[in-house]
Amino acid sequence: MFLPLCPVDVRVLDAAKGRAAIRDMLNQPTRLLVMASRARSAELSLTPFLTALQGDGHAIQLYSDIPANPSVGDVAALLSRLRELAFEPTAILAIGGGSCIDLGKAAAALYHLLRKPDEAAVREAIQSRAYERPHPFVDLLAMPTTAGTGSEVTRWATIWDAQNRRKLSVDHAQGFPRAAVLIPEWTAGMPAALTLSTGLDALSHAMEAYWAAARNPLSQEMALLAAAKACAALPAALAAPGDLDARREMCMASLLAGLAFSQTRTAACHSISYPLTMLRGVPHGFAVALTLSSVMRRNARAVPEMERLEAVFEEAEGFDAWIEQAARGIQPLRLEAFGVTQADLPGIAKLTFTAGRMDNNPIVFTQDEVLEILRENL
Ligand SMILES: [Fe+2]
Repeated sequence: MFLPLCPVDVRVLDAAKGRAAIRDMLNQPTRLLVMASRARSAELSLTPFLTALQGDGHAIQLYSDIPANPSVGDVAALLSRLRELAFEPTAILAIGGGSCIDLGKAAAALYHLLRKPDEAAVREAIQSRAYERPHPFVDLLAMPTTAGTGSEVTRWATIWDAQNRRKLSVDHAQGFPRAAVLIPEWTAGMPAALTLSTGLDALSHAMEAYWAAARNPLSQEMALLAAAKACAALPAALAAPGDLDARREMCMASLLAGLAFSQTRTAACHSISYPLTMLRGVPHGFAVALTLSSVMRRNARAVPEMERLEAVFEEAEGFDAWIEQAARGIQPLRLEAFGVTQADLPGIAKLTFTAGRMDNNPIVFTQDEVLEILRENL
């Protein structure tokens, strides 16, 4: 299957130029749905930006109900709200982390499909891939405020189905944002735990793209570069949150990792993470990073070029020492620290097999092997 490397117009700019770039890109008057949480709007002083967009002739509707880990219910709530307001967006501007961008992607894919959006209709449309039926997707522009998700350069969105305890994906060639503007200074206000979890998510994308069964030489080079940047810049951004060079490097790490895994998709660590997030609320970046070391050690048996990835962490005395040091004083990366007990593990292990992720690992683990990996990280 042909996967375009990057059909997204990506810019990395300072805040003033980034806002100007979005105004330039929206060169025709739109009905613009702006998605940004209240906290994000206040932190980034978005009001003058939105006023300027209005002045450019756009009709603006702000939606600030941005949950962590958006669910089918959250997508239904957003679409229903738009129907109530009779606001048919012709463009969506998502300003936030991966959850905000993914919610925007789901709305962009489903808006023209669901006349009466409720939770069941959204679930059915995602499950049956009804969004593959020819219909226009709404243009999506993304302004990530974290450095980790890579969602700004991928074609899929993660939407949770809490009722059925599973993760769903909206996954379509039209799912790529039209444009993404990364503003490193916007990521400087993140608290340490969010810098760490999102940074580890970016690193996980890089590492999993590097060893994925679907790896190729191009994705591996991008993944290595992303891992090297994250290895140097994440500790620097944690040590000095206002260090804009480190923030820029983390934005680039996240972007390069996003490009790498847009080609390969993720593998066992992401697959194992989903029930940890769904059942125990473990933040995504921590949930994926928890098992990186155990999985890397096992995968080395099947990936002869693993040495190049290991070499990235050589100066830090290896990956285990690096991650231990990065997380120190912020978040213990053990399952117990998130309230997971020994007794929970068999039930979790059963739910870790997501098609397209677990079977994209170079070694396809059995349920017992996953249990062993979980036990190692309790
Ligand atoms: Fe991720």
